[in-house]
Amino acid sequence: MSVMDTLLEIKQKASEELAALDGTAALEALRVRVLGKKGELTALLKGLGQLSPEERPAAGAQINDARAWLQARMDESLARLQAAEREAALQSETIDVTEPRPLPRVGAAHPITLVMNELIDCFTGMGFEVMEGPEVELDHYNFELMNIPKNHPARDAQDTFYMDDNVVLRTHTSPMQARAMLSRKPPIRIICPGRVYRADEVDATHSPVFHQMEGLVVDEHVTMADLRGTLSAFARKMYGEDVSIRFRPSFFPFTEPSAEVDLTCSACHGKGCRICKETGWIEVLGSGMVNPKVLEMCGIDSTRYSGFAFGIGMERLAMRRFGIRDMRLLYEGDARLLGQLR
Ligand code: PHE
Repeated sequence: MSVMDTLLEIKQKASEELAALDGTAALEALRVRVLGKKGELTALLKGLGQLSPEERPAAGAQINDARAWLQARMDESLARLQAAEREAALQSETIDVTEPRPLPRVGAAHPITLVMNELIDCFTGMGFEVMEGPEVELDHYNFELMNIPKNHPARDAQDTFYMDDNVVLRTHTSPMQARAMLSRKPPIRIICPGRVYRADEVDATHSPVFHQMEGLVVDEHVTMADLRGTLSAFARKMYGEDVSIRFRPSFFPFTEPSAEVDLTCSACHGKGCRICKETGWIEVLGSGMVNPKVLEMCGIDSTRYSGFAFGIGMERLAMRRFGIRDMRLLYEGDARLLGQLR
């Protein structure tokens, strides 16, 4: 077969295959087979040596023409196939931005955290500073410096978790009074929010872990009127101008005199209802004038300085605030409930 005939055959076959190609990969395979280093045209060129010297130039020129023609056809095909492949990719990768999807669940602060943050805002607004301390506490701070010596009956009332003879899980935030007085000089104005622990059975109003906020003021000429004024300001700021507070005589070893403080029941505005057990009042904190013995044990001159302290039960406030009757709801972590309380 002459070179011319072979070329015609190669071109014809390549044209048919080009028309039927289904992708750029197949095109590349065709290019290698026909135009590649070991391809059909190269083989023809190598065969030129068989021809007579007169025939060679014309045959060589024909092969080169055929190469150029085939290269041009393949370039056209490549452009067409690439465009088609890009289009197909765009189609298959399209995102339907209108498709509905599940809404993300947004977290919310825990009711105790909300109440704690409000209390912190309220008291820092009055010039108090936040001070935090250990939940695993020495007996010395939790009891001794709070005027609750060994064998004192008040130790029983505290239902203490003991780690060993000298270390307890703090039963109240009051040891922070001692830590503040031992580490600072008057005037002292601090609040200490945090967890406290008592060996109580879980029920609607008790939990072995709960939260308190301690307050302590020590300065010259501090009186019970300052305590009452501070707590009235706190009550009005948190619950509105029409809320009253009531002091009831009480006893704590670390304060003298001591008072339990009630707020007007927010459910019935003082008329009496189930929540306040028909009294119109809700107990929210213990307070009193810092016992001079405690001042002295903590290195403060009780002839020059006096102070007041209070301990607010945070669960009570949160329950009152959100109308929750059972404390367990605060700890069970049901996001359907906790997420609604703001
Ligand atoms: N520590 C007391 C308690 O846990 C509360 C209290 C604090 C009372 C400060 C008086 C002064 O019950």
